[in-house]
Amino acid sequence: MRRSFLIKSVAVGAAVALALTGCSNDREGTSSGDSGSGDAKGFAKDGLIGVALPSKTSENWVLAGDLFTNGLKEAGFKSDVQYAGASTTVADQQAQITAMVTKGAKVIVIGATDAAQLSTQVAAAHQAGAKVIAYDRLITNTPDVDYYIAFDNFKVGQMQGQALLDGMKAKKPTGPWTVELFSGSPDDNNAGVFFNGAMDVLKPAIDKGDVVVGSGQKDVKQTAIQGWKAEGAQSRMDSLLNSTYNGGKTLDGVLSPNDTLARAIITSVKGAGKPIPVVTGQDSEVESVKSIMAGEQYSTINKDTRKLVAETITMVKSLQAGTEPQVNDTKSYNNGSKVVPAYLLPPVIVTKATAAEAYANDPKLSALTK
Ligand code: BGC
Repeated sequence: MRRSFLIKSVAVGAAVALALTGCSNDREGTSSGDSGSGDAKGFAKDGLIGVALPSKTSENWVLAGDLFTNGLKEAGFKSDVQYAGASTTVADQQAQITAMVTKGAKVIVIGATDAAQLSTQVAAAHQAGAKVIAYDRLITNTPDVDYYIAFDNFKVGQMQGQALLDGMKAKKPTGPWTVELFSGSPDDNNAGVFFNGAMDVLKPAIDKGDVVVGSGQKDVKQTAIQGWKAEGAQSRMDSLLNSTYNGGKTLDGVLSPNDTLARAIITSVKGAGKPIPVVTGQDSEVESVKSIMAGEQYSTINKDTRKLVAETITMVKSLQAGTEPQVNDTKSYNNGSKVVPAYLLPPVIVTKATAAEAYANDPKLSALTK
């Protein structure tokens, strides 16, 4: 109960704050002095920066690790970049953060593997005088997190919900449309935020009867894929096809929270010899961009990891200099224990029609759109 309340308040608060500021990327008029993280005293220019990332459940995490290693070095810092393992993720990450504290890290950047399981480790970090930045995923139920930096993840969900509706309408102009819903790993705070954002757009259509969830599985718990695992999504899709859709009912669309799961869902549908429905995604993974250009996956989201890492390093530099990092949201991200000052970047929806423009500044992805 507590978790769903928390996610809802975080998500709704974020939406309200963004509506008020108009644009999450607009730094003007932002508040940077009242973040409440205490006196910033700065530290040595070559101080150690710890970066604890989750397991490599999507390409963005792999890219982030490389960018942090290179970017922190370039900025003159020492760095310790770690990933949680593939199975014992929580214990791994807890141990990695503890080791960073022991080694004297000045700032610890954390992409939480389980949002609610790090309070002891971040308390120890604070005790030792380190600052804690939650990266991409909020850390919950602890006062010991200083800043949150991410793309606006509620907006990501809203964009996914809207893309699903748009894609289905483009294929079949009048409803009702039959869909299935998937969500991410329940231990990742973002999973509920994405789902709530999508439902913010889809629920009115579901309530009106324009969109029908074929299986009736509309709850985030029924739709969750533990560990963001492709095989989990593929097997849930297999069983939906073998039950709800084995009598010839048409599946028009699937809400998928990210690209890894989207491709697994498409593999399942193809394996069953059925036409590919409209499938959403997120992360702009290479294979998904190829799939979009080939007319299979319908959409993805561009959350440019290069920008997110660069902004995080800018935050670290401010902390090193003893100044408050710039934030653009000091109201929305209540983690259950405090309101965490946040810096949010705007996500971009991408379909085949918009891919060339969306990736114009990304040589690797833009090459796929030619
Ligand atoms: C990230 C997504 C990613 C997912 C699985 C989420 O927390 O925000 O970009 O697809 O984790 O790795």
